[in-house]
Amino acid sequence: MALWEYTSFIKWLVFLNIFLSNCVPTNFLKIQDLRGVWDVQNLKRGYNLPASVPGGVYSDLMKNKIIDDVFFKSNDINTRWVSKINWNYTRTFTVSEVLLSHSNINLVFDGIDTFARIKINDKHVGVTENMFVRYIFDVESYLQPGTNTIEVQFISPVRAARLIFEKQAHKYVVPPLCVPEEYHGECHVNHIRKMQASFAWDWGPAFPSMGIWKPVYLEAYNSSVLRDVTVEIRSDTAGDHWDITVNVYLAKNYNKDFIQGTVIFRLYTDIEKLTNIYRINITKNVEGDFVFTQTISISKSYVKLWWPNGYGEPNLYILKVSYMDVNKNEKSSKILKVGFRTVELVQNAIQSGRTFYFKINDVPLFAKGSNVIPISILPELGQNETTIRFLLQSAKDVHMNMLRVWGGGVYESDVLYQTADEMGLMLWQDFMFACSMYPSGEAFLSSIRTEVRHQVRRLQYHPSIVLWASNNENEAALRGDWYNTNWNFTLFHEDYVKLYVDTIRDEVLLNDKTRPFLTSSPTNGIESDAEDYVASDPGSNFYGDVHFYNYLFDGWSTLTYPVNRFASEFGYQSLPSTDTLFTATDDPDDLSTNSAFLLNRQHHSSGYEEMQVLIEYQLNLPSRNNTHYNRIFAYYSQIIQAMSVKIETEYYRQWRSNLNNVGEGLTMGALYWQLNDVWVAPSWSSIDFKNNWKMIHYYAKKFFAPVIVKGDKDISNNVHIYVVSDLLKPVRNSVLDIIMFTWDSFLPLSQRTLKIDVLPGFSQRITTVSTFASVSNTNEPCGNLQATDCFLYFTLKDDNNETVAPDNFVFPVPLKLVKLQKPTVKIIDVRQADSASKVFEIEIQTDRIALFVWLSVKNIRGLFSDNGFLQVTPTKMIYFYAEETTPMISIKSSLAVTNLLGDDGI
Ligand SMILES: *[C@@H]1O[C@H](CO)[C@@H](O)[C@H](O)[C@H]1NC(C)=O
Ligand SMILES: *[C@@H]1O[C@H](CO)[C@@H](O)[C@H](O)[C@H]1NC(C)=O
Ligand SMILES: *[C@@H]1O[C@H](CO)[C@@H](O)[C@H](O)[C@H]1NC(C)=O
Ligand SMILES: *[C@@H]1O[C@H](CO)[C@@H](O)[C@H](O)[C@H]1NC(C)=O
Ligand SMILES: *[C@@H]1O[C@H](CO)[C@@H](O)[C@H](O)[C@H]1NC(C)=O
Ligand SMILES: *[C@@H]1O[C@H](CO)[C@@H](O)[C@H](O)[C@H]1NC(C)=O
Ligand SMILES: *[C@@H]1O[C@H](CO)[C@@H](O)[C@H](O)[C@H]1NC(C)=O
Repeated sequence: MALWEYTSFIKWLVFLNIFLSNCVPTNFLKIQDLRGVWDVQNLKRGYNLPASVPGGVYSDLMKNKIIDDVFFKSNDINTRWVSKINWNYTRTFTVSEVLLSHSNINLVFDGIDTFARIKINDKHVGVTENMFVRYIFDVESYLQPGTNTIEVQFISPVRAARLIFEKQAHKYVVPPLCVPEEYHGECHVNHIRKMQASFAWDWGPAFPSMGIWKPVYLEAYNSSVLRDVTVEIRSDTAGDHWDITVNVYLAKNYNKDFIQGTVIFRLYTDIEKLTNIYRINITKNVEGDFVFTQTISISKSYVKLWWPNGYGEPNLYILKVSYMDVNKNEKSSKILKVGFRTVELVQNAIQSGRTFYFKINDVPLFAKGSNVIPISILPELGQNETTIRFLLQSAKDVHMNMLRVWGGGVYESDVLYQTADEMGLMLWQDFMFACSMYPSGEAFLSSIRTEVRHQVRRLQYHPSIVLWASNNENEAALRGDWYNTNWNFTLFHEDYVKLYVDTIRDEVLLNDKTRPFLTSSPTNGIESDAEDYVASDPGSNFYGDVHFYNYLFDGWSTLTYPVNRFASEFGYQSLPSTDTLFTATDDPDDLSTNSAFLLNRQHHSSGYEEMQVLIEYQLNLPSRNNTHYNRIFAYYSQIIQAMSVKIETEYYRQWRSNLNNVGEGLTMGALYWQLNDVWVAPSWSSIDFKNNWKMIHYYAKKFFAPVIVKGDKDISNNVHIYVVSDLLKPVRNSVLDIIMFTWDSFLPLSQRTLKIDVLPGFSQRITTVSTFASVSNTNEPCGNLQATDCFLYFTLKDDNNETVAPDNFVFPVPLKLVKLQKPTVKIIDVRQADSASKVFEIEIQTDRIALFVWLSVKNIRGLFSDNGFLQVTPTKMIYFYAEETTPMISIKSSLAVTNLLGDDGI
């Protein structure tokens, strides 16, 4: 609804008088909002409670104190009954004679979750069955002047999924039957068009929700209504103009087979406001739409380009599109902010395989970012602007330029896409299909066609979206027989093509020809298409994108990682901080990974065992009977996650300009799994459910920095030093210092300084530091010392001594083999650094080199300038940015610091 705009009467009058006619308008399109307080009922159980629309049954039952906070303790399990019974949402509303005088009256649900019968005044209006569709019902004949009743009767989605599954099973079973047992979820979600993760996932609980999750309203008109606007922006072949094709979709008029009126485009460029006015008279096209299409051209000098984060400003321009029927005195408009940019997914044949990278405005760019799971597991809470802004700002702050909106969630709210446009975050947009086979019945495919049409028309104009992709991991699942489909590969392959190619791709191309399209992720792209959409190895390193997970090998060794074209998923689990855990439980015993609480929340099979294995490659866990064991385990799990993803990401970046001897490389993307959380639990997230950055998110600021210097330890323990730059310009005469520290001194043992030119958009090998392997060779970095006694440290400065790349380091051996002395790390001073009392300067002192120094402030929201860092100087200054004005005394009293050898964890 946010996009409807009611221009002031006077302005419109003036406008019309000048441009259109001498007819004086008297009224406008009529909208009657039906949001607000409804009732939610289950008669059998005697519930009749006030409810919110938009909203959902879990939120309503919480507000009415029928159920406790669903995110606390085991309430995901305790409240599951809510999803297994039916719920009615009802309200009354008054309808005026004026509204009823219109010849078209629609009831519009922008989003309804999911299975419902709609009644008005006890008469059947229609049914819904797809959460991702906008439902529009012609309700003219059901309404009466004065009081009316609307009833939305929801059917349990768990029950609905089972019934639909059973019907399908008469033909053949479409697997998987259920989510894996350790998800503690529900079955057959692949048979329904609902957030797939709402029946549980490996990072989230099952909340099979019901409710009216988006606005609902009546709209009345005598002519038509502007329904959707898509904008295809292309650079013309000569290169000096933008061609802007605007498609204006108009609502049908039940009394006519044509729509007349006036369409107005107004584009606010840097130079002037451009206005185009068209008189229209359109009939239905072959797809059944009333669509008015017009291309306008503007000189490129009129607008600035939209650039992703790190490459320039994400310039946006207002395009206002209006439809009016002067004779009927009706007008509706939409205001879009469009961006001028080109996007290309380059898949050129090379000696082995094909390249795979994005080019924006003709600039090849390395995609840096993460995967976004649903903003909330309760759809009604996924619209929260505060959360969305925080998450996207956190992505931007750590130099991300791309996020993937992953296929097991929802098409997110307008706020998310608008924010991504504004922040220059590119979006890889999946359609909502993940980790399953899906049925291919006619009704199901038809519903999906409607869904894709609606979502593409809703989202298409956003410059942030750079790619449409049909599904998550289903090509790999089919090829890899994950769900035992090989008994009839042909059958499931036919279904696959029917859904992702013949339905989704077909519908996308009907509505948007300006973006690349992939059938799956991971996929081999063009090569998968050539292999009838299911490649023999969808995870090939030579084509397309790759998802890579391995929890058995050491995450701190690059030998663990593949060399590929584009890593669109990879990552490691960690536990949230103790403070965050205590928001979901009040029992200290629940911090143990053996507790019923944390076992219920570990949905990844053997998750804690793997975490322990990964920790023990590198670190010595304290004995189980250590009083702080649980805190230390959680903190160590964050160290392991941060360091592993750091090393893996730097490794992918290292390959951006290089091929190895089998032809792998030219890597151009690293999107780790996953940005956010939907509850307090062990997960792959870098930001926890309470919007606290885990250690990995602080590390991302460095490993995604525009320029990095990194050391890659090879199989013979040589360290190859690379400088990788995503910049568009060189940094000449930079100074690279390769420093050797021993663990017990702040003074470097040795230091080598190299003058280098940092080449733009390039990964260059600078030098190799010889082996750490043998013990007493003075040519080696550690000199006469053992490899366990020293580590490498890098700094890169420009000729003005300004930092070019964040400092970095390489540990030659696992830290558990190093005899580290316990440092004393203290906060020695805290100073207020601004007048608003939001920024604080914190001075940290240590008596020897300290590892993974971790600061925390209990109960104060905010972020540190750095955290989890190596401290190689006796003092270090860190800033804390509080979200709100905070007295210094509160900061001082709640600040704490620990490090690898701190005995309290955090
Ligand atoms: C919803 O309302 C209908 C009557 O309109 C009733 O038959 C049905 O039992 C109600 N469902 C629930 C869950 O209360
Ligand atoms: C809509 O059209 C009907 C005739 O079809 C007319 O009676 C009514 O007044 C019109 N409504 C408005 C608000 O103009
Ligand atoms: C609009 O188009 C319809 C159908 O083609 C036609 O019947 C009608 O006369 C046209 N109206 C005007 C004003 O041209
Ligand atoms: C949105 O989320 C924030 C936390 O990020 C919370 O404080 C706020 O209450 C939420 N707003 C709504 C309307 O739910
Ligand atoms: C496999 O499915 C196809 C339909 O796609 C069918 O013709 C064939 O008989 C099936 N084969 C088996 C072994 O069930
Ligand atoms: C903790 O357990 C270890 C053996 O795992 C034992 O050696 C040590 O004495 C125990 N410490 C305490 C404080 O119980
Ligand atoms: C460069 O700056 C650092 C502080 O960041 C300082 O310690 C060092 O002395 C400076 N070096 C030169 C050559 O100015």
